[in-house]
Amino acid sequence: MQTQVNGATLHYTDQGHGPAVLLVHAFPMRGAMWQPQLAALADHYRVIVPDLRGFGQSDAPAGPYTMETLADDLAGLLDRLGIARAVLVGLSMGGYIAFAFARRHSARLHGLVFADTRAGTDTPEGKAARETNAQLVESSGMLPLADKMLPSWFAAATAPELRDAVRSLFLDNRAQGVAAALRGMALRADASELLPQIKVPTLFIVGTEDALTPPSEARAMHNALPGSRLVEISAAGHLSNMEQPAAFNAALLEFLGEMSFEG
Ligand code: MLT
Repeated sequence: MQTQVNGATLHYTDQGHGPAVLLVHAFPMRGAMWQPQLAALADHYRVIVPDLRGFGQSDAPAGPYTMETLADDLAGLLDRLGIARAVLVGLSMGGYIAFAFARRHSARLHGLVFADTRAGTDTPEGKAARETNAQLVESSGMLPLADKMLPSWFAAATAPELRDAVRSLFLDNRAQGVAAALRGMALRADASELLPQIKVPTLFIVGTEDALTPPSEARAMHNALPGSRLVEISAAGHLSNMEQPAAFNAALLEFLGEMSFEG
């Protein structure tokens, strides 16, 4: 399905009935990365899975796509779908967007799940690398960026078939959208101060072999938010939801099962 939000056409999946769960993908992926969760959740929940602007079948207007812009797109999508509140599940860049959403639209949240992400912003070197990567994609397409980024994404035991499937998703991107998201991520605010102010139930999930946003980051976020929960998933790297879907879904379903969804 698709709808117009904040001047861009967004593609999304809307499946199941019950309390709304919004699954927000990583960079440079698309809603399809949540396929293992869609199947597991849609029996009990209304699962909304967008392709963010710039990715998948959604429009890729001019950037940069700040995390605030992407969070406002999600709020606009919820408006379109008549959903007052949702549990937002964000992985990596999806987590950065979840922080922006929590800052700007906290009344729309029933709960938060931050998977394989971090609260901190980029270092000056990291920001410069984002710009280098944006220019690389604009000049040479996705292949060099895939070769640069993907080797560090997976746990040692992750099957070649899954690595290939993720590589295909990675390569099937438009330069304009990818460069706009890279520049937007470089602009993101530090969310460390926000963490202790989060008032809704919150779960952190991390793959024990995540080299990009390692367990130390997840533990630090968990420690900064009293009452939050942390689940570390073994034999998973950066895409813990795809690498270990059964463990990821169990953590998510247990968390959702204990929520009240009132109000
Ligand atoms: C992601 O998976 O969304 C990216 O690794 C995030 C990032 O580049 O910081």
